[in-house]
Amino acid sequence: MESRIPRHVSIIMDGNGRWAKNRGLDRLYGHKEGVESVRACMRAAVEDGIEYLSIYAFSEENWNRPEEEVQGLMDLMIMAMKAEIPTFLENSARFIALGNMSRLSELFNRTVKEITDATAAGTKCCMILMVSYSGQWDILQAMKKAAAQLSEKDFLSLTQEDFGKYLVTAGIPDPDLLIRTSGEVRISNYMLWQTAYTELYFTDILWPDFREEQFREALAEYSKRDRRYGKVK
Ligand code: FPP
Repeated sequence: MESRIPRHVSIIMDGNGRWAKNRGLDRLYGHKEGVESVRACMRAAVEDGIEYLSIYAFSEENWNRPEEEVQGLMDLMIMAMKAEIPTFLENSARFIALGNMSRLSELFNRTVKEITDATAAGTKCCMILMVSYSGQWDILQAMKKAAAQLSEKDFLSLTQEDFGKYLVTAGIPDPDLLIRTSGEVRISNYMLWQTAYTELYFTDILWPDFREEQFREALAEYSKRDRRYGKVK
């Protein structure tokens, strides 16, 4: 029987805006409180021996939000990345960011490089910030990359396994568990290729209220799931 602790947990963090609105606050307060939830889940993931924790922080579609909110989110992510370097080091955790990085500012990319380099020796949990990312964009960029690198014959004989090597998540196991908060029940153009056999967990809890206890409830639910990958067991 496979291990009941997932190797890779991924999260679509949703509901920050509604959490703030319920309190008569600006949406950005919701995002700020959301960073605390990221910290809480990261702590739990390190304690529980989860190898990868990926979080959907900003989608390609999120660029269409009001400029002020986009800028606020960018500033918040830059601040959080800088502030968390010591926490990552204390926990032997490492950090990477994946997505359409060319759309992000020079400062954003520099900050990503700073925290990625500083934490590269981390042997425990790897936190993956999915930023300026969308699943369809990823599949398309993978196809273009493969077409540019391979001969026509090799391109035409690509297997499903080989194709994964061209996605931005190359080398990272597919998510075992995908959590989405705030009651929305959809994938929203997230890791479309990588979630083919991922267990899905939806909860009504808004992201700023999703902390260690709620993360562990999701893990407990996962451990009860029977993963058959289309086979009979
Ligand atoms: C969804 O809530 C949340 C986001 C779009 C962004 C969340 C990003 C963070 C918390 C930053 C984390 C970054 C680091 C580096 C730790 P929403 O605005 O869609 O909420 P709504 O559906 O209620 O409007």
